[in-house]
Amino acid sequence: MKQVHKPWGGRFTEATDAFVEAFTASIEFDKRLADYDIMGSIAHAKMLNRIGILNDREKDGIVQGLNVIRQKISDGDFVWSIGLEDVHMNIEAQLTRDIGEAGKKLHTGRSRNDQVATDIRLFLRDQIDEIRTWIAQLQTALIDLAEREADTIMPGFTHLQVAQPITFGHHMLAWNEMLSRDYERLGDCRKRVNVMPLGSAALAGTPYPLDRTYVSELLGFEQPSLNSLDAVSDRDFAIEFCAAASIIMMHLSRFSEELILWTSAQFGFIDLPDAFCTGSSIMPQKKNPDVPELIRGKSGRVYGHLFALLTLMKSQPLAYNKDNQEDKEPLFDTVDTLVNSLRAFAGMMPHVQPRREAMRESARKGYATATDLADYLVGKGLAFRDAHEVVGKAVQLGIAGSRDLSELGLQELQALSGIIEADVYQVLTLEGSVAARDLPGGTAPRRVREAARLAREKLNGGRK
Ligand code: ARG
Repeated sequence: MKQVHKPWGGRFTEATDAFVEAFTASIEFDKRLADYDIMGSIAHAKMLNRIGILNDREKDGIVQGLNVIRQKISDGDFVWSIGLEDVHMNIEAQLTRDIGEAGKKLHTGRSRNDQVATDIRLFLRDQIDEIRTWIAQLQTALIDLAEREADTIMPGFTHLQVAQPITFGHHMLAWNEMLSRDYERLGDCRKRVNVMPLGSAALAGTPYPLDRTYVSELLGFEQPSLNSLDAVSDRDFAIEFCAAASIIMMHLSRFSEELILWTSAQFGFIDLPDAFCTGSSIMPQKKNPDVPELIRGKSGRVYGHLFALLTLMKSQPLAYNKDNQEDKEPLFDTVDTLVNSLRAFAGMMPHVQPRREAMRESARKGYATATDLADYLVGKGLAFRDAHEVVGKAVQLGIAGSRDLSELGLQELQALSGIIEADVYQVLTLEGSVAARDLPGGTAPRRVREAARLAREKLNGGRK
């Protein structure tokens, strides 16, 4: 097999073993960074020109040559070579083939170590921006639903047992809060992604008088990195991103779990759109919630990637080690899984149909207003613990005759506590119960509407 000439081949007398060549190459996956690699190289070339290392002709040749390569790659006409190991050397070698001598000067004052760190940061910055757009889209769907269903009663659960009545809108806004934190967490992570490593070179910096601030500005970074050793070896920003991604997937998995439960015949709280479900090849009656199930399942691989990266870094001495080449696949798969999961969720939620009667009936049957009865007794002067006892007895009575609390007769209730009067039936209704929870952050329909309005304002108000 004919070997390609390696850009680092000078000190070697023997050719690389063919298996080792394939084993050590990253081109199969890092070619995904090509656009960012070219972007970084163009900025580096412009800076080399500014400080007098490249003349105008050389700089223009490099910039044009890189643009041609970019076009070739996007047209699918670029031939990647395993012998050239990675995206950086493939592009640089092609540039030199295309434009000659000037291409060989591009790598002045640079190493693949600071180059790859720059590429990943540019890539991740873009991905974070896209992910945040999807989060916002999903939030919009939830806020729309919350507004529409602000009065819709459903049982709220603790221990997956009916606890107290809430509104469906309130439940949707709980999910929105989680996503709002996710959005902010990614914004925070983005600050630490947006730092510029070039000028660190292999590890120790470079004797050329590079203008790092200029490169940083050209690439839209916040600032150049502050320590060359750290800059080439640091992958904290990727770990941090995977941690934020894991939390998002955990949230999506929790939402999924609820949707899956709610679509079951036993709950029957919602209908999912046909377009987001599939059938069974054997059981004709089935409509399976595949999309939420798959998202719940996909949370596992994203957590796995977080641990892959933490483990990748844990024993690395400073500075760059080849181990770091292993950062890309987990990171890419995290991004893809997250984008696809958010996209599926954002597409599905606007078409979820709440089954209002079923939710109401479930709250009624579950003695969801028991706490309201206790609060009523407290209002009439009974100590809360005594009230708790009285209501426990009332629930027993209800269970014995399969009656809801509001179906117990006044005399039966008065036999349990003499202070109960006819006005008790107002608090035993589901509507009365939710309307009474009228604090900011509460489930009263009026509060839900207000919270939805505030959530929408926050969403549209240019969050950081
Ligand atoms: N493909 C390498 C990576 O992904 C690029 C940096 C290689 N640097 C080196 N000194 N071998 O990390």
